[in-house]
Amino acid sequence: MSNEALSNLLREDRRFAPPAAFAADANVKADAYAEAEADREAFWAKQASRLSWDTEWSEVLDWSGKPVAKWFVGGKLNIAYNCVDRHVEAGNGDRVAIHFEGEPGDSRAITYAELKDEVSKAANALTELGVRQGDRVAIYMPMIPETAVAMLACARIGAVHSVVFAAFSPDALRARIEDAGAKLLITADGYHRRGGTVNLKANADEAVTGAETIENVLVVKRTGADVAWGAKDVWWHDAVGAASTEHTPEAFDSENPLFILYTSGTTGKPKGILHTTGGYLTQASYTHHAVFDLKPETDVYWCTADVGWVTGHSYIVYGPLSNGATEVMYEGTPDTPHQGRFWEIVQKYKVSLLYTAPTAIRMFAKWGDDIPAKFDLSSLRLLGSVGEPINPEAWIWYRKNIGGDRTPVVDTWWQTETGAIMISPLPGVTEAKPGSAMRPLPGISANVVDKDGAIVENGHGGLLVLDKPWPSMARGIWGDQQRFVDTYWARFAEQGYYFAGDGAKKDDDGDLWLLGRVDDIMLVSGHNISTTEVESALVSYPAVAEAAVVGAKDETTGQRIVAFVILRAGEQEDTELDAALKAHVSKEIGPIAKPKQIQIVAELPKTRSGKIMRRLLKDVAEDRAVGDTTTLADSAVMDLIKAKLPHAT
Ligand code: WT7
Repeated sequence: MSNEALSNLLREDRRFAPPAAFAADANVKADAYAEAEADREAFWAKQASRLSWDTEWSEVLDWSGKPVAKWFVGGKLNIAYNCVDRHVEAGNGDRVAIHFEGEPGDSRAITYAELKDEVSKAANALTELGVRQGDRVAIYMPMIPETAVAMLACARIGAVHSVVFAAFSPDALRARIEDAGAKLLITADGYHRRGGTVNLKANADEAVTGAETIENVLVVKRTGADVAWGAKDVWWHDAVGAASTEHTPEAFDSENPLFILYTSGTTGKPKGILHTTGGYLTQASYTHHAVFDLKPETDVYWCTADVGWVTGHSYIVYGPLSNGATEVMYEGTPDTPHQGRFWEIVQKYKVSLLYTAPTAIRMFAKWGDDIPAKFDLSSLRLLGSVGEPINPEAWIWYRKNIGGDRTPVVDTWWQTETGAIMISPLPGVTEAKPGSAMRPLPGISANVVDKDGAIVENGHGGLLVLDKPWPSMARGIWGDQQRFVDTYWARFAEQGYYFAGDGAKKDDDGDLWLLGRVDDIMLVSGHNISTTEVESALVSYPAVAEAAVVGAKDETTGQRIVAFVILRAGEQEDTELDAALKAHVSKEIGPIAKPKQIQIVAELPKTRSGKIMRRLLKDVAEDRAVGDTTTLADSAVMDLIKAKLPHAT
């Protein structure tokens, strides 16, 4: 993707340097890049030393079995000890670890000393239920503190957790239980959502019927709903409640499996991505320290992701807790009971570091600037974004309306497979460009290559690759190592690169612009155009709140661009607007990127993690039956969209 059209795309010349005081006091300064460059392994060894190890490693990296790395070979540590006990031993037992905010407004503060007791009790209870090192434990839980406790309890005894997002169906849960061969399921009676309650236990019961490996189901009481009770069921408050707070953490090998997490994947059977202990915690912890600039004594950190995604694993549980953070955990949705709920929470807990997703940011922008304006957001000093490309306009909206035009914004690129952040500004160093994740973090190496694996020049686009091993890299796909090789390592086997599956562009300064999944790149009259770039141009038009773009088959141009657009509240759809939008894209990017067809819609189809499912929109644009919608957060959305298109089936 090295044609001229592309290098003209997305001309963005706004720059945001870190505030001077932020830069002066930053956890990580500019010298980290050179230090890591000079000796990558020594750099990561230094970051590993931020943790407490029972046995020192003998070798930093063993890459002889590539693509399966071994980091900190021979080292031994306990992850739960690192995330909990050591903060208590350092005299910080009274510090709040988790401020829990329930959707109905109930709240609970849990100190590190209390967390240590809870994790120890849960570790004893799991052992009592027969869970041993290496056993798999499925966790199907809402956003409540017991979820973090359950994960840490598994880590404490060397068991492997597999967290399954609570909104997944019984079938999806059963498939994951079976793939991992889990012997214990930890769940809850239910949770609060959109003013009602969800009966999670009923789903769990359905999943466990026929899942023969499950010996017990441990159930947290959250809503108090009536639940069916079977022979395998054990109440958390009985088993954990009765257990001792004394538990000696055992040190495990650096490569001991820590968790399996299934990636949503748009096609095929979900992949159980495997992460291990020492390297994973080293990078989750260091990147949290570096990218969020956490000052554990004064900051209040809030990552709004669900713990069922990798973001929740690395940046709600392992990263922040290993750094002794005080963090917020919220059970509910952003618009219950009102659209200012997030900002009310920021105000209530004086949140200083906020990490959320572009899909949420665009939704807040759609709801209107007046909503956050009603709350005191002056405690915020840094904003983060993750999950998909952030359009420059959304970036600017976020900084202005949430960050008071004052805070650095860090756009963080990574994946379930990378385990931790890979590409991101350093908030005290980088002069950020809205919409760019900028450059690889110190100790990380990435590049953009053409389809043959040749590195592209600045100003050109191509495929994102990671060309050097990193500590938190996935160690495989559970039960299918060949698929791990085929999916990520086969494409550029000759060069030894990890293929991320994302398109990217290096601008004239060599800074990186992530363009979304490679499948989301369109080919129009021989030009490569990314859906993200056209979407960003559309969203930069004042009347537009959100846009999704697909390439539909076209006899003359190969593909034609079809855009689905949500208007801001109060905007009217008419032929003038249609023409104005086309002209706007033409001016912003070039005539080649002008959509052939623009469809105004009320909603866009999204996965539960907020990713737009362009595959389904493409089905509509190409006028065929819409494919599998089971991973959609709201399956009615496609009916609404189809109803608007006269020709669609
Ligand atoms: C895919 C990974 C990483 C945690 C959440 C998603 C996209 C993620 C960005 C970003 C552009 C991004 C990529 C990536 N993505 N962050 N900052 N800019 N794209 O984890 O479900 O494994 O998805 O999300 O396409 O490959 P995931």
